[in-house]
Parts: sequence; structure tokens; C-alpha cells
Amino acid sequence: MLPLHCSYMRHIRKLPMSSPGLALLLLISLASPTSSCTEQDKTSLLQFHAGLLPEGGLLAWQNHTDCCMWEGITCSAKGMVTDVSLASRSLQGHISPSLGNLTGLLRLDLSSNLLSGGLPPELLSSGSIIAIDVSVNRLEGEFQELAPASATPDRPLKVLNISSNLFTGPFPSTTWRVMRNMVVLSASNNSFTGKLPTDMCTSSPSLAVLELSHNQFSGRIWPVLGRCSMLKVLKAGFNNLSGTLPDELFNATSLELLSLPRNGLHGTLEGANIIKLSHLATLDLGDNNFNGNIPESVGQLQRLQELHLNDNMMSGELPSTLTNCTNLMTIDLKGNNFSGELAKVNFSKLPSLRILDLMSNTFSGTIPESIYSCRNLTALRLSSNKFHGELAEGLRNLTSLSFLSLGNNSLTNITKALKILGSSKNLTTLLIAHNFMYEVMPQDDTIKGFQNLQVFSINSCSLSGQIPRWLSKLTNLGALMLHDNQLTGSIPDWISNLNFLYFLQISNNSLTGEIPTALAQMPMLRSEKTGAHLDPRGFQLPIYLGPSLQISMDSAFRKVLDLSVNKLVGEIPREIGLLKAIWGLNLSSNLLSGEIPQSICNLTNLQVLDLSINHLSGTIPTALNDLHFLSEFNVSNNELQGPIPTGGQISTFQSSSFDGNPRLCGPLLNRYCDLAQAAPVPITSANRWSIEVIFSIAFGVFFGVGVLYDQLVLSKFYG
Ligand SMILES: *[C@@H]1O[C@H](CO)[C@@H](O)[C@H](O)[C@H]1NC(C)=O
Ligand SMILES: *[C@@H]1O[C@H](CO)[C@@H](O)[C@H](O)[C@H]1NC(C)=O
Ligand SMILES: *[C@@H]1O[C@H](CO)[C@@H](O)[C@H](O)[C@H]1NC(C)=O
Ligand SMILES: *[C@@H]1O[C@H](CO)[C@@H](O)[C@H](O)[C@H]1NC(C)=O
Ligand SMILES: *[C@@H]1O[C@H](CO)[C@@H](O)[C@H](O)[C@H]1NC(C)=O
Ligand SMILES: *[C@@H]1O[C@H](CO)[C@@H](O)[C@H](O)[C@H]1NC(C)=O
Ligand SMILES: *[C@@H]1O[C@H](CO)[C@@H](O)[C@H](O)[C@H]1NC(C)=O
Ligand SMILES: *[C@@H]1O[C@H](CO)[C@@H](O)[C@H](O)[C@H]1NC(C)=O
Ligand SMILES: *[C@@H]1O[C@H](CO)[C@@H](O)[C@H](O)[C@H]1NC(C)=O
Ligand SMILES: *[C@@H]1O[C@H](CO)[C@@H](O)[C@H](O)[C@H]1NC(C)=O
Ligand SMILES: *[C@@H]1O[C@H](CO)[C@@H](O)[C@H](O)[C@H]1NC(C)=O
Ligand SMILES: *[C@@H]1O[C@H](CO)[C@@H](O)[C@H](O)[C@H]1NC(C)=O
Repeated sequence: MLPLHCSYMRHIRKLPMSSPGLALLLLISLASPTSSCTEQDKTSLLQFHAGLLPEGGLLAWQNHTDCCMWEGITCSAKGMVTDVSLASRSLQGHISPSLGNLTGLLRLDLSSNLLSGGLPPELLSSGSIIAIDVSVNRLEGEFQELAPASATPDRPLKVLNISSNLFTGPFPSTTWRVMRNMVVLSASNNSFTGKLPTDMCTSSPSLAVLELSHNQFSGRIWPVLGRCSMLKVLKAGFNNLSGTLPDELFNATSLELLSLPRNGLHGTLEGANIIKLSHLATLDLGDNNFNGNIPESVGQLQRLQELHLNDNMMSGELPSTLTNCTNLMTIDLKGNNFSGELAKVNFSKLPSLRILDLMSNTFSGTIPESIYSCRNLTALRLSSNKFHGELAEGLRNLTSLSFLSLGNNSLTNITKALKILGSSKNLTTLLIAHNFMYEVMPQDDTIKGFQNLQVFSINSCSLSGQIPRWLSKLTNLGALMLHDNQLTGSIPDWISNLNFLYFLQISNNSLTGEIPTALAQMPMLRSEKTGAHLDPRGFQLPIYLGPSLQISMDSAFRKVLDLSVNKLVGEIPREIGLLKAIWGLNLSSNLLSGEIPQSICNLTNLQVLDLSINHLSGTIPTALNDLHFLSEFNVSNNELQGPIPTGGQISTFQSSSFDGNPRLCGPLLNRYCDLAQAAPVPITSANRWSIEVIFSIAFGVFFGVGVLYDQLVLSKFYG
């Protein structure tokens, strides 16, 4: 979303500059210091002041002083209030209609406050106001329509921004008939329902910016929008619009930004239509149901900088003419069915390219060398396609690259790949999982570099060999995914030297030996320090770790240690209790023995604890009840005994969390504890002995549920 957002901002900032009228509008008029405000203006302002909470919004507006000198007020030479500028003042309360009585008011800016109530129609119908910005407040209710045109002469209002409020109900329609001067209308991020306004541009022929995204508009895009000959920005994404793009829409040939993502739109992109929008800099139709291919004529959109057609059902090869759009900076085509040899597109003609995202298509062939000449490329994602072959030396030319995702293709020669990638000084995120199948993890110290690598996934490659020592030099590493390989040997002690490591997933390998006590020294897992050091460039695109697991800078990674499904032996080191910041600990499906260390009860941030399928013995520590955040807990299939702790967090879990420990007891398992050690068993549970329970106990004892589970779990991991 980041690049998208930036592009919007750029357009919006650019717009006023390109139009002198608007630029003037935004200039603060100069106040004459000698003017003093009129009694009527002062009274109107004081009425507004009285509506603010707490106590006039803490604005020191005093009756006995000249209101032209008040905070946020600007007057004309004649002492008329022209500007009320009170953005970001934490104002609460409501907006008084008395502001409509300021007969010289030109601009009203109350944006980014906490104002509630409605927007007084007196302001819209004012005979003087040209700009109203009440965006980012808590204004609510239905938007009151102005009286029909016959009763009200044309209003001077040019800019109205009511975005990010809580307005509901249908979008006003008759109001716009008296807004012949309207240039900018922004109503995004409210809860408006019903159809899009039908004839905006008939009544407001100067309309240049129309922002309606993040509402609940439904129905079709009206052909009449094509009459908006001045319209430069149309944003209506994140609504419930349906139907096709009407041919007439492409009559709005001034459009520079057309953004309709996340709706239910369908149909094809017609070449003859697209070329009419020759000013287009941003086209965003992502997350709809468009099909068909990208028309050849796209090459004539010489000004195009951003193309987002992601998450549709589009197909076919990319037209080679795409390289005529030499200003392209972002191409996002992920989640479609595009195919063919990507090498047919000559990317060297796109020197400005910064983001190329082709994830989840069926592109084939080798990765085109021409991509490596796009020296400004910062994010490249080609994952989940059908690319094969080795990475080429040319990749070293991408010195700005910080996000690279090539996972789930059929690339080969991991040694060569890592040698090349290591020299990428600015690389912070490297995702190459599910390639290099059955190769050997390179061990030698010729793999080096990766100075800034923070997120590294090289899982699901069935790699053999050991956890390589060169990883110990990646001192900025935060998240390391090595799971689903065939790595052998022990977990190295040096892992705790990775000072920023907070997410380590090495499950489903063949690691042996004991859990090193050095793991308990991992600094990020010991302290509450957050991932604040993370470089945002590594999160330019959201990172997908699974079908439903998506990670962005904000949600970052949780602090996790996953050593499950290996062949680790010995006891769980007591020192594990030092990892106070850990969120998830998975030691399941190993050969661990001994007792559950009491110290685990000190991990008060723990939300997921899985110790299942081991040979742990002894009792479940009662103090585990102190882990109040625990939401997933599994100790099944061990050799635990004694009562399940009652009266706390542990007793809230299902019996499946405890199954397969024949000597565990408690009401949850319908198994009486020895009276000496047990908490009282509720009488009702006495009747619940069922044939299944008896069978499962017998099964556990005589046939060894553990072995069976091992196989189940393994097949799940490989699936
Ligand atoms: C402001 O002062 C005038 C006289 O100085 C008085 O008539 C008026 O009621 C006062 N207004 C408020 C809101 O206190
Ligand atoms: C605006 O001014 C008129 C006359 O001065 C007055 O009658 C009216 O109540 C005022 N409106 C508001 C909302 O203060
Ligand atoms: C409207 O206000 C929002 C929030 O303050 C801002 O992000 C947006 O750019 C504004 N729209 C226009 C067209 O100025
Ligand atoms: C919508 O408005 C809310 C509240 O003002 C804000 O927190 C949120 O970020 C806005 N969303 C968008 C997409 O602008
Ligand atoms: C979206 O629109 C469809 C009809 O096009 C309607 O059936 C559906 O209920 C709408 N969904 C929402 C959330 O408004
Ligand atoms: C608008 O588009 C339609 C269909 O594409 C076309 O027939 C019509 O002539 C266009 N009108 C104008 C004013 O360009
Ligand atoms: C590509 O651009 C060249 C000139 O810049 C032009 O002659 C050619 O027609 C364009 N091709 C397409 C398909 O737009
Ligand atoms: C590449 O990026 C640099 C720095 O942002 C910029 O100055 C330069 O113009 C860009 N080159 C191209 C071809 O866009
Ligand atoms: C990489 O850069 C070198 C020298 O700067 C150049 O000779 C080579 O052609 C470039 N490779 C690619 C694939 O662009
Ligand atoms: C690499 O990143 C550093 C900051 O970490 C930045 O100063 C430098 O410009 C980047 N290099 C390139 C080629 O983008
Ligand atoms: C991998 O690439 C290197 C060149 O970097 C080459 O020497 C080696 O033979 C390749 N390995 C395989 C298995 O193709
Ligand atoms: C839990 O932590 C405290 C200090 O934070 C320590 O004194 C205590 O020994 C620890 N308990 C266990 C069982 O490790």
C-alpha cells in the first residue's frame, strides 16, 4: 500500500501548484495589524468558541480583546475575519452554525480535531467561504442537503474536504447543483452508502478532484462522469462498486489519477479506451475482477508512473509496448494469471522502475537480464511463478535493491545465488524459499556480505548440510526462516550472537543434540526491545509467509522460537526462563525428556507454548497458571503425570492439549486424581466416562499415540 499512498500524496500536492487559482486559495492572506474585528464577527466567533470543549477548546479567545488577534484568526484590512485556521488543536465539541455568519470568511480549516455532531448547512451555503476542511474529525449523521437551486444562488465554495469522518447515509445530490465553482471534493473514509453522485460535473464543471474511496458506495460507475472534462483525480477505491468501466468514462481525458481498487468491477481493459487517457500518471484497478490482457496501446501512456492491476483475473503475455512507458516507477501485477516468457519485455527501457511486483502469476523462463539494468529498483518480487535457471551476475548491478522475493520458483544453484546476493549492500529482505530443491546448504566462508539483511527466508528447499556458520556474520538479522529443510547437526551456540534476532524458525529439519543453553542469551528474546531498528525499506511490500500470514512494518514479526519437528534430545534448559519477551515457543515433536522447567512460568509474554510429542515427565507446573496471555497451549503426548493445574489459565484449554499423557489426571480428562494430590473433582464429570475415553487411554498405553502423531504432524508440515 505504501507506494500507492505516496502517489496519491504527490498528486494532491502537485495539483494546487498546477492551478494558479488553487494556489492562491491556499495562500494565507496578509492581515493588516491595525484592523480590529467587527462586533458581529466577534459575536459569531464567541458562539463557536462556546460550543467547544473543554471550555472553549482551551483557546484563549477573550471578549475584551480584538478578535483579529486571536489564535487561528486572520482578518482582512477592513477587519473582516477571512480565515479560521484551527487544524490539529485537539478541539472537541461541535461546530457552531454561527461561523456561517462571518460574512467575510474565505477559508475554514478545522481538520484533525475531535469535533463531533454534524456539519452545519449554513457553512456550505455561505456566500463567502471558498474552502472548508473538516477532515479527520468525528462528524457524524447524514449530510444535510441544501435547498434546491432555485432558492439558493450559486455558492462560491471551491474546496470541500469532509474525509475521515463518520458521515452515513446517501451522498447528497441536490447540494451540488448550487456548487458550480467546486474544484476539490473529498469525502473519502466515511460510511456513505447508495450510488455514486450522478451528475457532479454537469453542475460543477470545474471539478478537478473527486475522492470517494473507503465508503460503502455501490452500483455502477456512471457514464456521465465522462463529462468531467477538468477531472484530474478520481478515487473511488474500497467501495462496493460493480459493473464494467463505461466507455464514456474515458472521455474524461484530463485524468491523471484513476484509482478504483478493491471493488467488484469486471470486464476487460479496452485498448481504444485506455489511449484516450494520455495524461494518466497512475492507474490503479487492483483487487477487482477484471479479465483479459493488458492492451498493446498501454504503450502510448507516456506519462504513466504507476500501474496497479494486481489481484484480478487478467491473463496473457505482457505487451512489449509496455516498455514505451519510460516513466514507469511502479508495476504491480501480482495475483493474476499473466504468463509467457518475461524475457520478451525489455526492462532496460524502464530506467525509473523502483517497484516490480509480479508475484503469483505463471511467468516462465529465466529471470530476464534486462531487469538488472533498472538501477533504481528497490523492490523486486517474482515469487510464485515458474522461473527456472540460475541467478545471473548482473543482479549485482541492482545496488539500491532492498526487498527481493523470488520464493516458490524453480531456481537452481543456491551457492551461486548466495554469492551474488551477498554483495547486495542494501538488501534488507531476502525471500528465496522453495527453490534449489535437494541442493546442499553451502557451508564455506566465501558466502559473505549481506551487511544489512534483516529478514531471510530460505525454508522449504529440502536443503541438506548443517546450519552454516556464515549466517553468524549477518549481524542485523531479525527473522530467519530455515524450516522444512533436511539440515543436520546441532543448533550452533553462535546463534545468540545475532543481537537482533527475534524470529527463528528451524522446525522440520533433522537437527540433533541438546537445546543449547546459549539460546537463552538471545538479546531480543530477553528484552522488551521492539523491532524499532528495522529498516522500513525492507517492508516496502508486505511479506507473505503463508496463505494467511502477512507481515508489514507495523505488525512486524512476533518474537518466536520454533525448534519443533527435529531430533533434539535432553532436557529443556532451565535458562529458557530468561527469554522474558518471547511470544511463541514451539519445541513440539522432538525427543526431549526430563521435567517442564519451572522457569517457563516466568515467560509472562508467552501466548503460544507447544511442548507436545516429546518424552517430558513429571508434573505440569502449577505456576503456568500465571501466564495470563497464553492462548495456545499443548503438552499432549508426553509422559506427564499428576493433576492438571486448576483455577487458572491452564484449565481453560481443551482436553486435546493434554491427551496422550496416560498418567495425567483431572476433571478435564475425566480421570480421577489420587485424592492426596488432586483438587476436588466436580460430581457431574463422574458420569462422563465414555467408551472413547477408555479406548484412547488404552490406545495411548498400548500402541503409543506419539508415533502416530509424529507422522500426522510431519505430513502436515510437508503439505
Ligand atoms: C462581550 O462584551 C460585550 C460588551 O463588552 C457584551 O455585551 C457581550 O455580552 C460579551 N459577550 C460575551 C459572550 O461575553
Ligand atoms: C446570524 O446572525 C443573525 C443576525 O445577525 C442572527 O439572527 C442569527 O441568529 C445568527 N445565526 C447564528 C447561527 O448565529
Ligand atoms: C483531504 O483531507 C485528507 C486528510 O486530512 C487529506 O489526506 C487529503 O489529501 C485531503 N484531500 C484533498 C484533495 O486535499
Ligand atoms: C479513516 O479514518 C480513521 C479515523 O479518522 C483513521 O484512523 C483511518 O486511518 C482512516 N483511514 C484511511 C484509509 O484514511
Ligand atoms: C455490494 O453490492 C452487492 C450488489 O452489487 C450487494 O449484493 C451487496 O450486499 C453489497 N455489499 C455491501 C457490503 O454493501
Ligand atoms: C463520450 O464517449 C462516447 C462513447 O465512448 C462517445 O460516443 C461520445 O462521443 C463521447 N462524447 C464526447 C463529448 O466526447
Ligand atoms: C513507442 O514509442 C515510439 C516513440 O517513442 C513510437 O514511435 C511507437 O509508436 C510507440 N509504440 C507504441 C506501441 O506505443
Ligand atoms: C534514480 O534515482 C535517483 C535518486 O532518487 C534519481 O535522482 C534519478 O533520477 C533516478 N533515475 C531515473 C532514471 O529515474
Ligand atoms: C552491470 O554493470 C556493468 C558495469 O557497470 C555493465 O558492464 C553490465 O552490462 C551491467 N549488467 C547488466 C545486466 O546490466
Ligand atoms: C544504500 O543504503 C544507504 C543507507 O543505508 C543509502 O545511503 C544509500 O544511498 C543506498 N545505496 C543505494 C545505491 O541506494
Ligand atoms: C553453480 O555455479 C557455479 C558458478 O558460480 C558453478 O561453478 C557451479 O558448477 C554451479 N553448480 C551447479 C551444481 O551447477
Ligand atoms: C523468575 O524470575 C525471577 C527474577 O525475575 C527469579 O528470581 C526467579 O528465580 C525466576 N524463577 C524461575 C523459576 O526461574
